[in-house]
Amino acid sequence: MQPPRRKTKLFSTEMAAMKHAAAGGGGGGRKGNNLSVFVVVFSIFLFGVFMYNEDVKSIAEFPFSWPKNQEIQEGSEPTKLNSEKVVAVSARSTKQEALDDAKSTSRNKEEEEEEQKIEMAVIEEEEEDVELPPQECDLFTGQWVYDNVTHPLYKEDECEFLTAQVTCMRNGRKDSMYQGWRWQPRDCSLPEFKPRLLLQKLRNKRLMFVGDSLNRNQWESMVCLAQSVIPRGRKSLRKTGSRNVFRIEDYNTTIEFYWAPFLVESNSDDPNMHSILNRIIMPESINKHGRNWKGVDYLIFNTYIWWMNTFSMKVLRGSFDKGSTEYDEIDRPTVYGRVLKTWAKWVDQNVDPNHTTVFFSSMSPLHIKSLDWDNPDGIKCAKETMPVLNTTAQLNVGTDRRLFVIADNVTRSMKLPVHFMNITTLSEYRKDAHTSVHTIRQGKMLTPEQQADPQTYADCIHWCLPGLPDTWNEFIYTRILQHS
Ligand SMILES: *[C@@H]1O[C@H](CO)[C@@H](O)[C@H](O)[C@H]1NC(C)=O
Ligand SMILES: *[C@@H]1O[C@H](CO)[C@@H](O)[C@H](O)[C@H]1NC(C)=O
Ligand SMILES: *[C@@H]1O[C@H](CO)[C@@H](O)[C@H](O)[C@H]1NC(C)=O
Ligand SMILES: *[C@@H]1O[C@H](CO)[C@@H](O)[C@H](O)[C@H]1NC(C)=O
Ligand SMILES: *[C@@H]1O[C@H](CO)[C@@H](O)[C@H](O)[C@H]1NC(C)=O
Ligand SMILES: *[C@@H]1O[C@H](CO)[C@@H](O)[C@H](O)[C@H]1NC(C)=O
Repeated sequence: MQPPRRKTKLFSTEMAAMKHAAAGGGGGGRKGNNLSVFVVVFSIFLFGVFMYNEDVKSIAEFPFSWPKNQEIQEGSEPTKLNSEKVVAVSARSTKQEALDDAKSTSRNKEEEEEEQKIEMAVIEEEEEDVELPPQECDLFTGQWVYDNVTHPLYKEDECEFLTAQVTCMRNGRKDSMYQGWRWQPRDCSLPEFKPRLLLQKLRNKRLMFVGDSLNRNQWESMVCLAQSVIPRGRKSLRKTGSRNVFRIEDYNTTIEFYWAPFLVESNSDDPNMHSILNRIIMPESINKHGRNWKGVDYLIFNTYIWWMNTFSMKVLRGSFDKGSTEYDEIDRPTVYGRVLKTWAKWVDQNVDPNHTTVFFSSMSPLHIKSLDWDNPDGIKCAKETMPVLNTTAQLNVGTDRRLFVIADNVTRSMKLPVHFMNITTLSEYRKDAHTSVHTIRQGKMLTPEQQADPQTYADCIHWCLPGLPDTWNEFIYTRILQHS
């Protein structure tokens, strides 16, 4: 127990030193820069030593068991199940609607009109109601407050679009407190969540999440947040290729997810078949994906978890289209920086700031070592029912903060103003919010035997819904209201 803690401390000291040096380097010229390069190199070395010595087990197991499971989860089976369900739902929404319409009497029509009038009235009233925090308020510094009066924002049973990956209660989770936490910023408050108000802002617009399975987790949350006020048959979900599209007819709105785990082109871009151990990317190639993002009104990007398998990233020499197979192995932050620069350039050249709002989400943390939060009896995140509430103590759950610094920096230096969604620290407190053993694996519900073996089977990457990603969407909601 002692050695890892000492290492952790050492590591965070180094990171602090690195930050300090970097800050000094900004103002101080040559000497500072040399110092910061030295400290960075030294920290990376330490980071490596730290990972390889102490964490070889958890990390080594993480790359080769976790993402593999995940891939398969993300892959064929659940997708198939879902698209079947989807087809059913959307079939009802078109054919059944048409039938209903044909059969409907004038009385029904009157009723519908009446309903619409009421709806309009409600919208107007709500628009006046909601109180927005000042633009300059830092939404991401604050604390978790237990508030089961306002949260969760929807019920697990009432959102038919949730996949079995995230419905923790249905999958046997016994404690439910994890659903009742509200994020309270220190200097202001988040506006009350009103689905109709959100939908009104999204009318005739497209909102799209682009990235990995954590962004898909957040997309599922957004679908549930928006759909509660829409009657059955007036909404549909379709999965085609890399794109999942949730459509709300009455508002001419879509809430979409686009699979691009590295944002740039990679050999893991197939949404169904990406159980590839040898992940290779093309850091300067983005148009293949980017052309699918053009003209979207709200774009929310992320990329993190797929970087965590190995310490270096494999960078293709040449291109997949030309059949190249040779690659170079380059350290993670260097390639992450290259990828984000490619992404930033694409955004600056292809996004019309008058038309589109762009968000970038910082990393969603994992909780794989219970000693990180001083629980010697824990097994990964499996036994956690409460967030970390003492925020005085520094919490280090092994997030690669180097990537955070890069993302923060790149998003700041762009021509187009990007909303940096600083969700990392506040999510690090939520060790209680992961799907753990109450999820699926390879498309199937974990068996009781597997559930009894969290060391092997707990998923401490993804999050239950309702849950933490709803809060991430409350931030998006706040920004959408503030900027319209
Ligand atoms: C991100 O938020 C955390 C608190 O959640 C805060 O300590 C940190 O300074 C923020 N970082 C940036 C770059 O805004
Ligand atoms: C809310 O939490 C309180 C205190 O834990 C509990 O007594 C109450 O039953 C909860 N209410 C709901 C609706 O879950
Ligand atoms: C529906 O929304 C799309 C954008 O998502 C827009 O191009 C189109 O004009 C809208 N249709 C109507 C009838 O407003
Ligand atoms: C955006 O709007 C501003 C002011 O309305 C206008 O001057 C500018 O040309 C517009 N930019 C683009 C790219 O359309
Ligand atoms: C919170 O953590 C700090 C630092 O570890 C500790 O000194 C303090 O006593 C803790 N506070 C509570 C209320 O547990
Ligand atoms: C931040 O980004 C700028 C522009 O891309 C770059 O010149 C600078 O070195 C970066 N700083 C850090 C600390 O990454």
